[in-house]
Amino acid sequence: MDAILTATNRVIGRTAVIPPRTLSVYPPSVSLSSLSILSKNSVKTKSKGSTLHKTAAHFATLRVSASTQAAPASVEAYTIPTEMKALVYEEYGGVDVLKFDSKVAVPDLKDDQVLVKVVAAALNPVDFKRRMGKFKATDSPLPTVPGYDVAGVVVKVGSQVKELKVGDEVYGDINEKALEGPKQFGSLAEYTAVEEKLLALKPKNLDFVQAAGLPLAIETAYEGLERTGFSAGKSILVLGGAGGVGSLVIQLAKEVFGASKVAATSSTGKLEFLKSLGVDLAIDYTKEKFEDLPEKFDVVYDAVGEGDRAVKAVKEGGSVAVLTGAAPPPAFRFVVTSNGEFLKKLNPFLETGKVKPIIDPKGPYPFDKVVEAFTYLETNRATGKVVVHPIP
Ligand SMILES: NC(=O)c1ccc[n+]([C@@H]2O[C@H](COP(=O)([O-])OP(=O)(O)OC[C@H]3O[C@@H](n4cnc5c(N)ncnc54)[C@H](OP(=O)(O)O)[C@@H]3O)[C@@H](O)[C@H]2O)c1
Repeated sequence: MDAILTATNRVIGRTAVIPPRTLSVYPPSVSLSSLSILSKNSVKTKSKGSTLHKTAAHFATLRVSASTQAAPASVEAYTIPTEMKALVYEEYGGVDVLKFDSKVAVPDLKDDQVLVKVVAAALNPVDFKRRMGKFKATDSPLPTVPGYDVAGVVVKVGSQVKELKVGDEVYGDINEKALEGPKQFGSLAEYTAVEEKLLALKPKNLDFVQAAGLPLAIETAYEGLERTGFSAGKSILVLGGAGGVGSLVIQLAKEVFGASKVAATSSTGKLEFLKSLGVDLAIDYTKEKFEDLPEKFDVVYDAVGEGDRAVKAVKEGGSVAVLTGAAPPPAFRFVVTSNGEFLKKLNPFLETGKVKPIIDPKGPYPFDKVVEAFTYLETNRATGKVVVHPIP
């Protein structure tokens, strides 16, 4: 897996995957003192109803001390505003419905939630599928602040929060059920409110950009592998190996579950990248049909939507996990459940560098370029994760 670090310098197709700077640069520019955050008190806010706007901007100035894993203890005043900048859409549609709004209400906290000052957020296909109205029936009401993945700093805690404290550097997928009532106030904003149980402390070796690129994708990768009953000594074929989820399925299969063999598909220009992740057999889907290979696999993990073909590549009695599209037997489709415990469990693999976040080199995109970031993600050509940072 150390190959991944070196592979980050390698030119893949026309783009270098993860230029070295992305492995070290970001966050240290973000610290508790630079964010000047710190409060254990609550700011009382009024209920919003269906509007995102506050009418009156009142500010609470709070004084606290905090210590975190990285930042020095400090005492300073921090103001949690009642309004924030956020990306918003008021109707379903294409990227053109996305608007910036600097008067969105900072979300109210429930007892089991913490308020996170967002430092970086990653985009996922569910963000644009939701925006297009695909999950209308179970969505939260419009207007929506999109965003599932967050990495940031806790600035306020609810009364029932047990472990997290102000100043903690955290990351997670803010929506427990991706499609059932995802939050109206997502992570593409200055602040987001999240249940403590969906978060984990940010791995010490990762910056906020890297951490933001993990939660939904790594939890999907992990949950899918568990659901297939994957275990040491089994072989796996990953469809869509270069994407946000696929690149983590490959790494988890190899480093966490002990796969005997990992095969994966991508287009020609990304085959070397797949190998750098630990793939034993990189299959160019523009030239070969994976279902026609004589070799069959214990597990097929489909992150593309090729369920009909995926079931032809699995061994008799094997298992096929499908993330999108058709799932004919024996395939099954599942929807990820966000769970901070997964992140905690994977922490040792992240902190030792055995599993690495893959950040698409076109990013990170600053907040004012978030529409470009979505446009790019929606080409279905991203390598690893598309991350937004800084967020004002
Ligand atoms: N059910 C769930 O809980 C769940 C959770 C997460 C994601 N998903 C879904 O899973 C899918 C993947 O998500 P993601 O975040 O990994 O997306 P992503 O990062 O946007 O995937 C982009 C990657 O897909 C690859 N790709 C596209 N067509 C391919 C093909 N025919 N064969 C092999 N690779 C192909 C591309 O590589 P090339 O450029 O080489 O083609 C690109 O690197 C999405 O549909 C998403 O909505 C579902």
